[in-house]
Order: sequence, then structure tokens, then C-alpha cells
Amino acid sequence: QTSQVGQLINLHQTAAKLYHHILVSTPAGGAALHYLQKRGMSRQLIDEFNLGFAPDGDEEVLLEYCQQQKLDYQLLRKSGLFVTDRAGNLHDRFHGRVMYPLDGSNGQVIGFSGRILASKGNDHEPKYLNSPETELFNKRQSLFNLHRAKKAARTAGKIILFEGFMDVISAFGAGVANGVASMGTSLTDEQVQIIQRFCNEVVVCYDGDDAGQNAIDRAIKLIAQDAPKLTIRVVQLPAGLDPDEYVQQKGAQSFQQYLEGHVETPVEFQLHYLRRGLNLHQQDELIGYLNAVLRIIAGVSSAVEQNVYLKELADEFGLTVASLQDQVKQIGQTLP
Ligand code: GTP
Ligand code: MN
Ligand code: MN
Ligand code: MN
Ligand code: MN
Repeated sequence: QTSQVGQLINLHQTAAKLYHHILVSTPAGGAALHYLQKRGMSRQLIDEFNLGFAPDGDEEVLLEYCQQQKLDYQLLRKSGLFVTDRAGNLHDRFHGRVMYPLDGSNGQVIGFSGRILASKGNDHEPKYLNSPETELFNKRQSLFNLHRAKKAARTAGKIILFEGFMDVISAFGAGVANGVASMGTSLTDEQVQIIQRFCNEVVVCYDGDDAGQNAIDRAIKLIAQDAPKLTIRVVQLPAGLDPDEYVQQKGAQSFQQYLEGHVETPVEFQLHYLRRGLNLHQQDELIGYLNAVLRIIAGVSSAVEQNVYLKELADEFGLTVASLQDQVKQIGQTLP
């Protein structure tokens, strides 16, 4: 007799197989397959990530399949793969969505995220729909692709943190195998602890938009607090592109070179982040900006690193390094 968890995993494996079969081998998956191809997704990647499709409309493909197999009602109910109506009847949770299996630590399927085929979500339909929390799936502890990324992360000594599933998959297709993504929420303490187990550096590479920049700011503060020993680096993408779009538009080689060539420390990121929307030709705004960044630089423990940033600022704003050093010293005395 298989344990409850074992049965839930079997059910998820079965569901993933069914959704994948529908996507790649049946007419019902045609539109979704076309959608993925249009997004530049190769058949190889579709197979590697075991992507699938949950058909639209009134069909209850998963429910019917499970009923044929005479699977237990309570098991189906607990799986999160169905919704229950008022009468207690089950219905497939996922309809008309490209299905991304979410893998547990051993590579077993523990949940799904489903994407609608339209370019964006709306009031009634979120763009991505995740499995609810179940005995198998805890969103705060899940990192998409961690199972595949582990080995590459150990070899490279670092993990790359992306925002979205498609970013991870496109990066993987572009030869960047150590990418993971948090599950559409902001990064959690639990995820930071998990990352810390596999490597000692994390590279945050979020979308090149305002939301992405704000998310980078939050992520690097959280990581610094939760895992002080983890080296943090940031790669900011060109405005308007997320990693998936970058790969599709500019190609694998360009993406790899960009990741290598645009690495910033958290302080460098802050130097850029804190000047958003400011007019530094305006003296008061410049002074406010300098005060804010010198405060950050004062918190850097290495004097050599401090001086690199101070030199950059001095050059840009026509100041002397010595005057900036004085200021940093003063701030340093007021820090705890
Ligand atoms: P694509 O549009 O398919 O390229 O997705 P994306 O990854 O570029 O989406 P976006 O940058 O808007 O959001 C980043 C991540 O947030 C997604 O990969 C999802 O994990 C998550 N996300 C986005 N929209 C939703 C939503 O409506 N619901 C949930 N639960 N998560 C979402
Ligand atoms: Mn239904
Ligand atoms: Mn985004
Ligand atoms: Mn995005
Ligand atoms: Mn995208």
C-alpha cells in the first residue's frame, strides 16, 4: 500500500503525462503547441520541461481519466488538481492553460502552474494559475527548476534567480542551466535558505522594468539579511526586456555574454537604483542622492571596495575622493 504522499505524487506524475500527451500528440493541444512555437520554444525544451496543455471548455480530461482509474475521491480532493462545487462534485482546476509541472526536490511533480494562451490575464482569469497549497506543494519553499539546476549550480558555484518560468526555460535553452524562479511571489526566507545549500553566490536577474528593479531591491535586502555569507550579484537587463524576451530577440550567445558582462554588486545596483527619477543637475536632488549613497557605501566593510565606489562618484560629479571619504567617515561614526 502506497502512502498518501506517494499516491499524490503518482497522481501528479499521471496528470503531467496526460497534459503533455494532449499538448504534443492530440488536436486539442494544437493551439497551445502553436503558441509555444511562436514564443520560440523548441520541441526539445517542451519535452525537457514536460510542458503540457489542459484543454479548454467543459471537458474534464483529468477527472475523467482519474475516474476511469477508479482513484479515490478524497485523494483527488486533496490533490489540488480539482475544484469542488457546492454539491461536492469535482471539476478540473485547469482549463485552457499551458501546464508547467513544478518539480519537488527529487524531480517528482508536486504541482502545476498553468498559463492562459492570451498575452495577458484579466479580471476573471489570472495569467498564471498555480496549484493551491497541498501536502506536496508549499509555494514558499518551491523554486521552479531547482531540481535540474542543482548540478549546474554546484559546478558554476552560483544560482541565477529569475522572475518567471519562461525566463528559466529560455535561459536553459540558451545554455544557462543554473537558473531558478520563485513562484510568482516575492522571494521568501525559505527560498533563500534553500539556495544557500547549493552554492555561495546568487545572481539576481529580474525583468528590465520598474517592477523588476523594485523586486531586485527587495530581494538583495532579504538575501543579505537571511544569508550574510551568500555573495549577491545583480544583472540588470536592458529596459523593456525580460530574460526570455532577451534570448528570443538577441540569441543565446548574446544572452550568455550579457550575463557575464553586466554583473553588478548590490552597492553598484543601489547607486543606479537610487537615482531613478532624480534630476542630478538640480543641486538639492544631487545632495540628497549623495547622502543616500554615501550612507550605503559607509556600510561596506572593505575599504578598497569603498574607494572604488567613491572614485566613481567623484569622477562623475567632479568632487574629490578625499571629501567623499571624510563624509563616509562621519557617517561611519554614527552607524551602530
Ligand atoms: P510570460 O508573459 O509568460 O512571459 O510570463 P512572465 O514570466 O514574463 O510574467 P511576468 O513577468 O508578468 O511575471 C513573472 C512571474 O510572476 C511569472 O512567471 C509568474 O510566476 C508570476 N505571475 C505573473 N502573473 C501572475 C498571475 O496572474 N498569477 C500568479 N499566481 N502568478 C503570476
Ligand atoms: Mn468544470
Ligand atoms: Mn515582470
Ligand atoms: Mn517577465
Ligand atoms: Mn516574459
